[in-house]
Amino acid sequence: MEPLLAEELRSDKIRASDVVETRAGVSFKGTRETAYRACLWSRIANRVLLPLKTFPAPNPEKLYGGVKSIRWSDHLTPKETIAVDFSSSQSEISHTHYGALKTKDAICDQLKSVQGERPSVQTKNPDIQINVYVLKDEATVSIDLSGTSLHLRGYRDENTAAPLKENLAAAILMHAGWPTKLAEARAKPDFKPAMLPAFLDPMCGSGTLVIEAAMMAAQIAPGAERKHFGFLKWRQHDSALWKKIVNEAISGEMRDKKLFPKIVGYDADFRAVRAALSNLESAELTGFAHIEKRELALCESIAPCGIFVANPPYGERLGDEEQLQELYGRLGDTLKQKFKGWEGYIFTGSEPLSKLIGLRASRRYVLYNGAIECRLFKYELY
Ligand SMILES: C[S@@+](CC[C@H](N)C(=O)[O-])C[C@H]1O[C@@H](n2cnc3c(N)ncnc32)[C@H](O)[C@@H]1O
Repeated sequence: MEPLLAEELRSDKIRASDVVETRAGVSFKGTRETAYRACLWSRIANRVLLPLKTFPAPNPEKLYGGVKSIRWSDHLTPKETIAVDFSSSQSEISHTHYGALKTKDAICDQLKSVQGERPSVQTKNPDIQINVYVLKDEATVSIDLSGTSLHLRGYRDENTAAPLKENLAAAILMHAGWPTKLAEARAKPDFKPAMLPAFLDPMCGSGTLVIEAAMMAAQIAPGAERKHFGFLKWRQHDSALWKKIVNEAISGEMRDKKLFPKIVGYDADFRAVRAALSNLESAELTGFAHIEKRELALCESIAPCGIFVANPPYGERLGDEEQLQELYGRLGDTLKQKFKGWEGYIFTGSEPLSKLIGLRASRRYVLYNGAIECRLFKYELY
């Protein structure tokens, strides 16, 4: 997802500079405002980290010394609670719990020596979340400005069996060109709502793709409804600036139903439909997407052109083999017979099942669903 994240960071909404793809992340430069914008506007990122210092940490003592050399009073007072998220790779310090403990001790000892008091540790919902990553005995200590993972937008209050993470759903939609196609249609001088591509997910589950598609169409900032961020109790937090950016985002939302694309989700399971409707309501998007209980066999085209995205079960968590084989065949037939003029996308973790779709993919993207290597296949339908 790094190229998609880099594109987001360079966009008008975030305006980061020196954007460089790294291992499982993207680094960038900017002001505090840029960091706030990344927290508010990134649909792809899990976390936004502010690196404070990088230093050699071949043993616990060096880690302790390096962390202690950071001026923590610039970032927090002893009144704030802290938590340390520690991970390491190819390094001497491999015990994450011990690494976290050493880091916490160094922060507490340093603050106590300067301010006479030590902050307390609170592993759940701390005021300040500190992140330490040690790679090849080199530690980078950061403040986690996101606090909790940014894929938690705040709209999902009910889970079905196998929901996609919101940022993975957003990545699928970006690969499918959904936001770009909408922007291109809206920018045409003779623009009419009928020119907008439609969106259909025939097996929408809890509605993640449908809701993310609607949020993109309405230009809703993915973080606008989040209650918690890691910077809210940070000493350098500028609440007036944050409010300004959030208000700007809210006033830029496009919630005019007459100018909205057709967005539809179906699922054969009524519990999934119920969850999707409830999530749509939490996202304050009721009426902007249509969700209905419907079998794939009864799925029909809803517009002359559009984007069809399906995330069928693939056996890792749901479904039984024979039924799945039939389902993938039916998906291919549905695309071929009923969706001429559309672009079809199928996201699956099963290569053998994907072969049963029976259409030749014009592109494929590798994306990870947790630890599962998955593929997004693109089909052009004539
Ligand atoms: C992997 S889940 C989709 C998860 C979804 N993307 C989300 O984020 O919640 C697959 C969905 O396909 C639905 N499904 C399976 N067979 C179906 C069929 N024949 N017709 C319609 N939906 C079907 C299941 O009920 C399930 O909700």
